[in-house]
Amino acid sequence: MRKPIIAGNWKMNKNPEETQEFLEAIKGKLPAADQVESVIAAPAIDLNALVWFSKDSDLKVAAENCYFEDEGAFTGETSPKALSEMGVDYVVIGHSERRGYFHETDEDINKKAKAIFRNNMLPIICCGESLETREAGKQTDWVVAQIKAALAGLTAEEVSKSVIAYEPIWAIGTGKTASADQAQEMCHAIREAVKGLYNEQTAENVRIQYGGSVKPANVKELMAKPDIDGGLVGGASMVPDSFLALVNYQN
Ligand code: PGA
Repeated sequence: MRKPIIAGNWKMNKNPEETQEFLEAIKGKLPAADQVESVIAAPAIDLNALVWFSKDSDLKVAAENCYFEDEGAFTGETSPKALSEMGVDYVVIGHSERRGYFHETDEDINKKAKAIFRNNMLPIICCGESLETREAGKQTDWVVAQIKAALAGLTAEEVSKSVIAYEPIWAIGTGKTASADQAQEMCHAIREAVKGLYNEQTAENVRIQYGGSVKPANVKELMAKPDIDGGLVGGASMVPDSFLALVNYQN
């Protein structure tokens, strides 16, 4: 049985003080970790506060990016080794904003996935098509190719523990959610692709999130779909009450 995983993605928002205020507001209100995994992906400067909070709460912490080398002369990058040592659990990689604005390639994302496992963390691997690709009917081929490239060289055991986030670019921050059926269809296609690349058990284990305008009003319907195991949520994760409504969607 796959454990649901709801992750907030704060993007480039909140300073450490605002992070602290948010954490005060959610204290004691997260679902039990054996029911739902609650994760916040935050800017690097906010991670310390989140890690401290996570030590005696059910929150898991994600970085929004890291470099693929462990350390060295890479000015301005974030070391996956240091993230792991400070207590970060997950790293989001391949977000469409990073692919689009910062020109990250499938190859970079694959190297980052390997660096994350090498440092005993887990990746949340994002994929998703543009509106143009969907209108051309090529979305499944596109997304499967992204996943294939991201997972290249990873073991079945590693993929079993990975999280994949399907985020159609046209649904991010636009208020335009993919329908639950569209999201399910792609999450199913991703699981089938993992089955083809690895095996049935790995496909059964890998957790697949949907992302793109997820909010308290639609989270239940999305989570009811058999291949959707969680959400990666931008806008609606930034306010404590809304984040709490998302992670407590079962209540
Ligand atoms: P959104 O962002 O929920 O604001 O659409 C999702 C994401 O980019 O992860």
